[in-house]
Amino acid sequence: TPVAILLSGRGSNATALIEACARPDFPARICLVLSNKPDAPGLDMARAAGLETVAIDHRLYKKDREAHERAVDAALQKAGAEVVCLAGYMRLLTPFLTTQWAGKMLNIHPSLLPVFPGLHTHERALDAGVRIHGCTVHLVTEGMDEGPILGQAAVPVLPGDTAEGLAARVLRQEHRLYPDVLRRYLTKSPASTPAEAALLVA
Ligand code: GRF
Repeated sequence: TPVAILLSGRGSNATALIEACARPDFPARICLVLSNKPDAPGLDMARAAGLETVAIDHRLYKKDREAHERAVDAALQKAGAEVVCLAGYMRLLTPFLTTQWAGKMLNIHPSLLPVFPGLHTHERALDAGVRIHGCTVHLVTEGMDEGPILGQAAVPVLPGDTAEGLAARVLRQEHRLYPDVLRRYLTKSPASTPAEAALLVA
């Protein structure tokens, strides 16, 4: 299945997806890596991996979010994408793109949704005093970080944790979770059982 990745920054989740797709038994190939930021390190990484890349700078569209999204969508269609993975794509989406890709757009978020949608999730988890934190892959709908949950991985919050340390621990699980959920989504395999989910608490 041709899969496109949308990113805005460092692209470590994109790297995990690209590495997974390089395995012969993985049911996806990356047809495009697209960024709204021309200088995103993730775009350089994808280019170095020999993938097709494109930058569609949102600043060139003034404040017209939908016009930007129409250009993004045109690039996705041109590349033949059937599924889109958001991987640190830091744009709020309008109903245009979420409707166009309903059921076919996945996102990874660094918290156990539905708690801590939005930004600064690790600081907020520490402030709230939760003992278990983690990451979620979900289908994208109009509400930010709100769509149906496809998979989660949990990590413990340890005594003395800093936001940075916790973020790094969660990020390792993101890199494992996203390819795994994408594979299950594409092969329509059942979601992990509660027993499997418990095993993820490392
Ligand atoms: C990750 O924490 C992801 O969960 C969030 O944005 C961050 C992107 O990091 N949506 P990277 O660009 O994949 O390294």
